Amino acid sequence: MTRPASPALERLRAIIRENVPRHLGSYLQHLARASVVAGGVVAAGCSTSHFPPGEELVGPTCVDGQWRALGGVRPAPDYDSVARYAARGFAPVGGPAELLGEECRAASNRDACEASVQELTQSTWGNYFFTTRGDELRVHQSEDEVLALLGGSIDTPDEALLRVWHAGYSITCDDLARTGVREVADGFEVIATQTGGGCGSPVIVSRYLFFVGRDGAMTELSREEIERHEDWGCEGRRPEGLLPVGADVPADPVGRWFASMARLEQSAVDAFHGVADELGAHGAPAALIAAARVAADDEVRHHEAMSRLARRFGAAPIPAEIVPHPVRPLYAIALENAVEGCIRETYGALAAYRQAYAATDAEVAAAMADIAADEARHAELSWEIAAWIEPRLTDAERAELAIARARAFAELRAEAETEPDAAVVERAGVPDAKTALALLDHLAATIFA
Ligand SMILES: [Fe+2]
Ligand SMILES: [Fe+2]
Repeated sequence: MTRPASPALERLRAIIRENVPRHLGSYLQHLARASVVAGGVVAAGCSTSHFPPGEELVGPTCVDGQWRALGGVRPAPDYDSVARYAARGFAPVGGPAELLGEECRAASNRDACEASVQELTQSTWGNYFFTTRGDELRVHQSEDEVLALLGGSIDTPDEALLRVWHAGYSITCDDLARTGVREVADGFEVIATQTGGGCGSPVIVSRYLFFVGRDGAMTELSREEIERHEDWGCEGRRPEGLLPVGADVPADPVGRWFASMARLEQSAVDAFHGVADELGAHGAPAALIAAARVAADDEVRHHEAMSRLARRFGAAPIPAEIVPHPVRPLYAIALENAVEGCIRETYGALAAYRQAYAATDAEVAAAMADIAADEARHAELSWEIAAWIEPRLTDAERAELAIARARAFAELRAEAETEPDAAVVERAGVPDAKTALALLDHLAATIFA
C-alpha cells in the first residue's frame, strides 16, 4: 500500500496545477518590475532607548556563523538525539538546523526508524524539536513540550533564545542589534527579529525585546522596525558533467559577467537536449520531449546573445566543457530537474526580467527581455517535468526531492549574498545582493512555499 503524499508535496502539486504553468511568467514579470519601480531600502532609526545597549548583552552561541544552542541544553531524559528543526520559508525543511547525538542510534530497526524520522520531520511545520530514544521518536512542538525538553525552566541565555526562536523569531549570530540576551530578575531579556510583509506589501524586518521568565512565560516589551524593503529581491539550467571555468577569466567585470553567462547558456543547450533524450528513453509524453527540444533552441539564441554582449564589453565568451553521460534513472533526472529547473531557472527568469527593467544599457535590456520570457517558459517546463516524474518515484525519493529543492534554494540564497560588481548592477541590471535576497525570499514565500 502506498502512503498518501505529504502535505508539502500536495501543496507543491496544487501550486504546479493551479499557478505555475499558466501564470509563472506574468507573475515573475510583475515582481521584477515592482523591484525596479519601488527601489531602494528605507532604513529606520535604531535610536529608541527601550532596547538595552549592546555592551549589556551576550550573543547566541555560534560556531562558524551558525547558532549552536543545543550544546548548553540539558534535556531531562537521556535521548539518543536532540534536533532543532526550523521552518525557513521553504518548509518543511529537510535536515535539522542543529543536531546533538545520532538519530536512531539505538533503534531496533534502524532503516525503519530513519524512514519514520524522515516522514515525521517532512510533515511537521514550524519550529520544533525532535528527539529519538531507542524506538521512541518525538516531536516537541507545544510550549509545554518545549519547556519540558529544556528541563522545565529557562536557566541560560541560549535557553531563553530557544524559547523566543520557538515562538517564531529569528536568531542572528554576531549582531547584538538583532539578537542578544541579558539576565534580569526572574529571567532574561531577549532581542530577536522577525520579517513580515511581502506578497505585494513591503518586506519589513522588526526587532523585538522580550522578557522570558524562568517559567517560560514570554512577554513582548518593545518592538521597532529596523529595515524596510520596498524592493523585492541567475542563472539557468546546468547539465551534469559541466566542468568548472578554466584560468582565463576576462578582466572587465561587465564583459566577465556576459562571458560567464554565455558559458551557462551554452551548457543549457546541452542540458535540454539531455533532458529530451532521457525523457524519451523513459517514455515521457511527446509534448514534454518536444518542449525540451524547443528550450534547447532557445538556449542557442541565448548563447549567441550573451556571446555578442561579452564581446561588446571586451571579453571572449567562456566555453562550456561538458562530459557526456548515459541515460540516467528517473530519480537522477528528477533531482537535476528540481535543482536546476524548478529552483534555478525559476529564479533565473525572475533575475532576467529584473535585468530587462533595470539595465541602463539598452541592448542589454532588450536581450534580457527576450531571455526572460524564454526562461519563464523553461521554469514552467521544469515544473511540468517534475509533475510527470514525481508520481513515478517512491515516497522516499519524493521526500528526498523536497529536501534537494530546499537545499538548492539555500545554496542559491547563499550565492546571492555575494555583492556583484557595481558596473554589472548598473549597466546589466543584475540585482544587487539585497535585491536578489529580497526576490529570493519573496519566491520562497510564494512559489516555493
Ligand atoms: Fe537561457
Ligand atoms: Fe533556460
